[in-house]
Amino acid sequence: MNVQKQFQLKPYNTLSLDAVGSDYVEVDTTEDLVDALNYAKAQQLNVLILSGGSNMLLPEQIQALVVHMNIQGIELLHEDQDSYTIRVGAGQNWHAFVLWTTAQKMYGLQNLALIPGLVGASPVQNIGAYGVEVGEFIETVEVYDREQQCLSQISAQDCAFSYRHSIFKDDPNRYVITHVVFKLLKKADLKISYGDLKAAVGDELTPENLQQQVINIRQSKLPDPKQYPNAGSFFKNPIIQLTEYEQISSQFPTLPHYPQADGSVKIAAGWLIDQAGWKGKQLGSVGMFQKQALVLVNYADAKLQDVQATYRAVQQDVVQKFNVLLEPEPVLFDSTGLIQPHSQ
Ligand code: EPU
Repeated sequence: MNVQKQFQLKPYNTLSLDAVGSDYVEVDTTEDLVDALNYAKAQQLNVLILSGGSNMLLPEQIQALVVHMNIQGIELLHEDQDSYTIRVGAGQNWHAFVLWTTAQKMYGLQNLALIPGLVGASPVQNIGAYGVEVGEFIETVEVYDREQQCLSQISAQDCAFSYRHSIFKDDPNRYVITHVVFKLLKKADLKISYGDLKAAVGDELTPENLQQQVINIRQSKLPDPKQYPNAGSFFKNPIIQLTEYEQISSQFPTLPHYPQADGSVKIAAGWLIDQAGWKGKQLGSVGMFQKQALVLVNYADAKLQDVQATYRAVQQDVVQKFNVLLEPEPVLFDSTGLIQPHSQ
């Protein structure tokens, strides 16, 4: 096991925050992972699991073992008349995997093209875009259970997937995801109802074209982290009670909203931020992106406290105007490598 000391994590988090991990190791297999966890225990270090780094807020110095998940591999477990069951290593790049499934004529994930990050992180916040959430196509998630100290499998039902949420969010330091088992379809069931997707797809209703249009839409709105370091949508779309929605919409009738099955209403955080005057606005080196106000960008060597100053200012202005508190989407870590709730 090759543990590196004082390891610079700036290239490994898409917000490009300066962050140094006291100890760092890359793991290629579940056996490597168990070795790494044992090392951390012996050294009395917390463990910070690093995946694609696209949804993380890191402090400058982290006294912990940073475990970089690099388990690769795609394996066909089962094929029947309608579907393929495939097992994918947590370290596999998400977008490359989606492109691969489409090329293999395995359907379902096309709407989720170009989402940054790795396969192992996809169940954690149940990544979703353009009317599809990954949980719909997951059969089981294979984990190392740090509480029970064993490998284990969690069924999709027990993952309790919901909007940007799963059990992995409720109990963030317990499980390390090693593999994800997907069930993909032989016959595509194309979802094109979201926003401008239908018009973009036009008459060419194929999974390949759908995937390409999703890529085009994302590229036109969302900044490339290599050029503008960012963590995708910075806030979740708030889900509020119908009465609360009615109150806001009586004053702001154009507020984009999506009624939920349970009677609550999801509203567009990007619109709220835009209307609060933050689209294209910066505070110091951190601002909300010009083409999509929901994306926070590190324009020049920002540190965690700069990001926090900006997002708190955004939250404050949105509360003042709409009386809605936006909840950040990225995961916040403390200086010992543990996940912390966002303070308000
Ligand atoms: N809007 C504005 N101004 C803005 C941005 C958005 O008025 O600056 C309005 C749009 O016009 C639209 C509405 O807000 O009516 C929603 O915007 P959009 O369709 O761009 O989607 P979103 O709600 O901003 C969500 C996801 C994205 C996902 C897209 C497409 C969340 C937090 N974000 O964004 O996910 O790609 O829908 O499905 O749910 C991510 O999580 O990193 C992410 C990019």
